Amino acid sequence: MNKKILVTGGTGYIGSHTVAELITDGFEVAIIDNLYNSEAVVADRIGQITGVRPELEVFDLCNEARLEDFFRKHNDISAIIHFAAYKAVGESVRKPLEYYRNNLLSLINLLEAMKRHDIASMVFSSSCTVYGQPEKLPVSEDAPLQPAKSPYGNTKKIGEDIIRDTCEADDKIKAISLRYFNPIGAHPTALIGELPRGVPENLVPFITQTAYGLRDELKVFGDDYDTPDGSCIRDYLHVVDLARAHIVALKRLLENKNKKNYEVFNLGTGTGVSVFEAIKSFERATGVKLKYRVTSRRPGDIEKIWADPSLANRELGWKTIYTLDDAMKSAWEWEKFIRKQNRS
Ligand code: WQD
Repeated sequence: MNKKILVTGGTGYIGSHTVAELITDGFEVAIIDNLYNSEAVVADRIGQITGVRPELEVFDLCNEARLEDFFRKHNDISAIIHFAAYKAVGESVRKPLEYYRNNLLSLINLLEAMKRHDIASMVFSSSCTVYGQPEKLPVSEDAPLQPAKSPYGNTKKIGEDIIRDTCEADDKIKAISLRYFNPIGAHPTALIGELPRGVPENLVPFITQTAYGLRDELKVFGDDYDTPDGSCIRDYLHVVDLARAHIVALKRLLENKNKKNYEVFNLGTGTGVSVFEAIKSFERATGVKLKYRVTSRRPGDIEKIWADPSLANRELGWKTIYTLDDAMKSAWEWEKFIRKQNRS
């Protein structure tokens, strides 16, 4: 009997790639998504990729009654992978209360439902943003967490605290928080990928939209940082590598291989890449010349961060296999696919 996994936010960017990997790996999947930042058609496309369309229930996790109905109907959930959250840094600064309510109340509702329905395991989508600007690089999981630079980042930090304290108070609940560095790229089929609403905040969707002609030029936010070429450095990892890490983390919990009730892992390549290097990678991987101009720094940006992924490498047996060029190529193929869809 295949184990059934609840994936919240499963039509979103990381969620959809994780659902595709789960189904391919033999799990049954039910998705809860309020479609705030995604579309129901993504479930159909996961069906095209895997041959199995996941169940999708569209409602908001803040609606406790609807969530209780869901667990009464799906009384065979083995574990939860929790992606559903608002994630735009800039928007969170403009609408802090919406971010705290949505991201924290949905998590609390889920944890309380887990206790009511004897669901033991949660994999939580966290972020390297909890580190702020680390003192030491590469950054490892025991690095001191810095005060969050945005309400979004704070909801990830508080979310980790809520989960850690729940696991420590109740040994029937166990969890793993996965701290993502910068996920980029799209599924090799180009049927699913990042679907930013409006003007993209993140670098790679802005690059692909500029390459496609939707944006006049890419603005490089500053080349006066204390880095080799002056532009900011990040640890960009392919979204399929990231999705696969969720499968190994889930199995670690389901097979009781976790060493503590609450564990945290960095998910990154371990290599820092500057904005200019990312642009060069895109041009090399696609053959498309990118138009860009250096402008002033973006407020809130940290200068440089990249992961020490050795704990995940060792404990999860996980490491990234796709290259930066692979990720850029897949992002470009996805951009061309989605633009054709929007035209048809
Ligand atoms: C990367 C680099 C920009 C756009 C964010 C969230 C983080 C996580 C990943 C959710 C920076 C530069 C960007 C542009 C640019 N999201 N840039 N021109 O800020 O590292 O992280 O996404 O978990 O929480 O904060 O990613 O892609 O926005 O920026 O020069 O048009 O690209 O300055 O150096 P970031 P990003």
